[in-house]
Amino acid sequence: MCGIIGYSGSGDAVPVLVNGLKRMEYRGYDSAGIALLGKLPKSGLDFWVRRAEGRVTNLESKLKDHLLAHQGIAHTRWATHGAPTEINAHPHCAGSVSLVHNGIIENHAEIKDRLIAEGISFQSQTDTEVFAQLLNYEFSRLLKSNKGESPRQLVLKALQVSGAQALGHYSVLFMVKECPGSLFALHMGAPVVACKAEGVFVASDLQALLEYGRDLFFLKPGQILVAHPDSLEFFKASDLSLEDVSSERIEWAAEKVEKDGYEHFMLKEMFEQPLTVAETLSGRLPQDEDSPFLWDNPIAHQEIWSKSKRVTLVACGTAYHAAMIGKYYFEKMARVPVDVELASEFRYRDPVIDQGHLIGVISQSGETADTLAALRMARELGLDTFSICNVPGSTIARESQLSYPTKAGPEIGVASTKAFTNQLTILCALAADIGRLKGVDSARRKGVAQALARLPQDLERVLSFSDEFMEMGAGLSPLKTILFIGRGMMYPIALEGALKLKEITYRHAEGYAAGELKHGPIAMVDEKLAAVVFGPDDDVLAKTLSNLEEVRARNGKIIGIGSDDNSAFKKISDEYIGLKSLHWSVAPMAYVIPAQFISYGLAKHLGCDIDKPRNLAKSVTVE
Ligand code: G6P
Repeated sequence: MCGIIGYSGSGDAVPVLVNGLKRMEYRGYDSAGIALLGKLPKSGLDFWVRRAEGRVTNLESKLKDHLLAHQGIAHTRWATHGAPTEINAHPHCAGSVSLVHNGIIENHAEIKDRLIAEGISFQSQTDTEVFAQLLNYEFSRLLKSNKGESPRQLVLKALQVSGAQALGHYSVLFMVKECPGSLFALHMGAPVVACKAEGVFVASDLQALLEYGRDLFFLKPGQILVAHPDSLEFFKASDLSLEDVSSERIEWAAEKVEKDGYEHFMLKEMFEQPLTVAETLSGRLPQDEDSPFLWDNPIAHQEIWSKSKRVTLVACGTAYHAAMIGKYYFEKMARVPVDVELASEFRYRDPVIDQGHLIGVISQSGETADTLAALRMARELGLDTFSICNVPGSTIARESQLSYPTKAGPEIGVASTKAFTNQLTILCALAADIGRLKGVDSARRKGVAQALARLPQDLERVLSFSDEFMEMGAGLSPLKTILFIGRGMMYPIALEGALKLKEITYRHAEGYAAGELKHGPIAMVDEKLAAVVFGPDDDVLAKTLSNLEEVRARNGKIIGIGSDDNSAFKKISDEYIGLKSLHWSVAPMAYVIPAQFISYGLAKHLGCDIDKPRNLAKSVTVE
C-alpha cells in the first residue's frame, strides 16, 4: 500500500526520489518522507532526513534547501501501525540504518519488547522502526565482534537474521552509513523491482521506474538486493548465496503515467477504455466462430481447461464484481459451474475441493494481499490456477499457472475503471473459448467474437454521452441515498456503480438486484432517494420495469440507462439516456461507463479529491 523508492548514482538524488514518490502517491498518501546519505556540514557522512504529514507536495516544500547527495530512499505512506503523523512517517533511522518499509511486521510488538529490554528506545508507534532498530542492533553486534569481514557482508548477515525474526508479508529498503553508495532491499512478500541506468533505482512499483528503464528486475520472495551505482546483486536470504535474476522488458510507456491534460487520472482512464480493450484483444480474436482464441500459452491453456469441471473465481473490490459477471459468462457459454468468492473470505474457509477444480484470481495490481493469499492457498491444495492481472510482472501473474493479462496500461486513479472493462473483456473471450473447447453447442456463444471485435467502437459511442452522464451525477447531490439497480449481468454492474459512488463521493449508495428491492430496500424509498437503473433490452427487462413502478409509486427518482428505442423504460424514468442496442455479451462493458461517469460527475460537483479518495489506497498489500 505504501510506495518506496531508492536511488544511488551520480546525480542529485532528491528530484529522482520526489518524482518516484509522485508516481506512486496513489498507493498511499497520508504522509511522506525522504532520507539522503551524504556529507553534512557539521557531522560528515550522515543521514539527512525530512518527513511531512499529508501529500508529497508538503514534503517537497521542506526540500527547498536540500543536501546535495547522490544516494537516498523515500516513502509515501498509507498508515497501518501508528497515526499518519510526521513522527510515524518513514524513513526511520536507527544508528547506522535508515529504512523504509511496505507491508506489515506481524510480531513487531514482541520484537520491540525484546529490544526495549536491551535498552533501546523508540520514537514512533510503527512496526517499521522496530525493523530498523532490530537491523541496527544485529549489525552493531556483528560489527563489534568482526574478524575482518566487510561492512557489506555484515549488513547481509544482519539482514538475514532480522528477516528471519520479523514475520509477515513486507519488504524493506535501506541504507547503512558504513556502506556509502549501496542500497539494500529485502523482499518478504511485498514487491521490490529494480533497474539500472545512470545509477540504480529500486521501488515497490514499476510505474516509478519506467522513465529510467524498461528492463526491470523483479525480486522473488526471500531475496535480497544489493544495489550499487553501477551494479545489482541478488542473494537468497536464507543462506546468502548469490542468485541469478534476469530482467524483464516492460512495454508500458512512461507517458501513460501522465494525466495528458485531463483533470484527473480517473477521467483519462475512463476515456481510455475503448483503446485499451482493443489492446487487450489484439492478436487474440479467432478467425471465425469455430476457431480458438489465441492465448499466450495455448498448450497449458488447453490442458488445464480440458480437465476443469468447476471454477472458483476469487477477487476483491471491483475485480470481485468482474468475477460475478464472469460467472454469467462461463455458465452461459461454457456450461461450467462457477463460484465467486471474496478473497478475504475464501482464504479463511475450508473449501470443498473436487477433482478438476480450477481457481481463477482476478486483480488489477496483481499484488492484493488477500487475493494473493487465496492463490497460494489454492496452490498448496494442489489445485490448478489462472490469473487475470493488469500489472506485468506482478506476483499474482507470476505465481499462477496460467496468466491472461489485461492490457489496460497503468491505472493510477484509485477507483478502478479501465481495468474492470478489460477484465470483463478477457472473461468474456475466455468463457466463449472454453465453450468451444468443451464442445458446448450454444447458439448464445455465436457472435461473441464479432461483438468483441466491435466493442471498442461501441464503447466510443457510449463515451460520447459522458457530459450527460456527469450532469446526471451532479444532479444527485441533494439526494440522501442512491440505489443502483439491475438484473442478470446488470446486477454486478449495479454493485460496481454503488462502489464507485461510495469510493469517490463518500455518499451513501447501495447496489441491488432489482428483484430484491421489495425484500428490504424499498423501505428507504421516498422523494430523497434516486434509483439508477441499468436495463439493456434483455429477457429480464420487463421484470425490472415492474420493480421500477414500485419505486415510482413511492416518489423515488428514477434515472434510467437503457437502449435508445425503449419507450416504456424511458417513460417510467425521470431522466433517461438511451444507448445503441448491443450484443448481450458486451452490455456489461458498455453499461458500467455511465456508472463511472455518474459517480465522477457527482464527486466533481462535490469537490472531492477524485484520484486520491480519503482512507483508500490503490493497491491493498496488507490484509
Ligand atoms: C483496492 C482498490 C480497488 C480495487 C481493489 C482490488 O480496494 O481501491 O479499486 O478494486 O483494491 O484490487 P486489485 O488490484 O486486486 O484489483
